[in-house]
Amino acid sequence: MSLPRIALIGCGNMGRSLAGGLIQAGWSADALHGIDPEPEQREKLKSQTGISVTADGTAAVSRADVVVLAVKPQGMRDTVRELAEALRQYRPLVITVAAGVRIESIQSWIGAPVPLVRAMPNTPALLGAGATGLYCTADVTAAQRQLAERILGAVGIVQWVEHEALLDVITALSGSGPAYFFLVMEGLIRAGVELGLSPAQALTLTVQTALGAARMAAAGVADPADLRRQVTSPGGTTEEGVRILEENGLQEILVRAVQAARQRSEELARQFGEG
Ligand SMILES: NC(=O)c1ccc[n+]([C@@H]2O[C@H](COP(=O)([O-])OP(=O)(O)OC[C@H]3O[C@@H](n4cnc5c(N)ncnc54)[C@H](OP(=O)(O)O)[C@@H]3O)[C@@H](O)[C@H]2O)c1
Repeated sequence: MSLPRIALIGCGNMGRSLAGGLIQAGWSADALHGIDPEPEQREKLKSQTGISVTADGTAAVSRADVVVLAVKPQGMRDTVRELAEALRQYRPLVITVAAGVRIESIQSWIGAPVPLVRAMPNTPALLGAGATGLYCTADVTAAQRQLAERILGAVGIVQWVEHEALLDVITALSGSGPAYFFLVMEGLIRAGVELGLSPAQALTLTVQTALGAARMAAAGVADPADLRRQVTSPGGTTEEGVRILEENGLQEILVRAVQAARQRSEELARQFGEG
């Protein structure tokens, strides 16, 4: 059985990551096609992955089983309108990875309901370590859901949600989440330096600690709260550090941060949907 043909509209960071991830996962380069108006972007994708590239989105859509929309949110309306006729005629599965662009907006730009999956990946997807939220319209078949999972699964883990509104929560949690962890790392590095370590030592120790903690949590043997208790001996150093974090409301601060980011995600979705 031949592999479904995928047209990647937008050969930027996300388009290249998806193509690279799919090829690493064993997808044939012949079944992938990149589309971008920028010759440089096309060349980069072609040289990195060996897939064919073109500037002509409409022709690519006519041959595709899946069309992945990987252009900037601000460019989605014009891009979708350019492809609308071909999308209506050939009805491929459409997967959008654009942050904050709602299914309702995309359907209205296409001008007819087509099977649509909305994905919210995050930046670590560029290294194959992404976390992606997925939501789909009711007319997406089980086989198409599996296909979407394979495509986004090529750059990390995926989680389906039952309501599109939950993608705003995913945007605020895992979409913006890398920045929260970077901020925590910045604080730990600063602490190490202020207490006498060299910046390079503080950086190396902090990053490795974050990686180690994430790997322990990802192993799934215990949840983060249990892991924290296990590494916090009564009367020890960790207990003292954790006490300061808890007394100063670290968890409440994180909850507020995610709430604020979700609200911003909703505002941006309204903005991108105009017109
Ligand atoms: N990068 C991430 O970590 C990340 C994470 C989550 C979600 N996303 C989403 O992924 C999408 C792409 O992000 P990105 O970082 O890959 O952006 P990017 O690097 O700017 O790539 C987008 C590419 O699409 C091209 N393009 C614009 N209009 C087009 C059209 N009509 N047909 C074909 N290609 C077109 C752009 O060309 P021009 O430069 O000429 O406009 C650009 O090369 C965004 O919507 C973003 O929200 C990205």
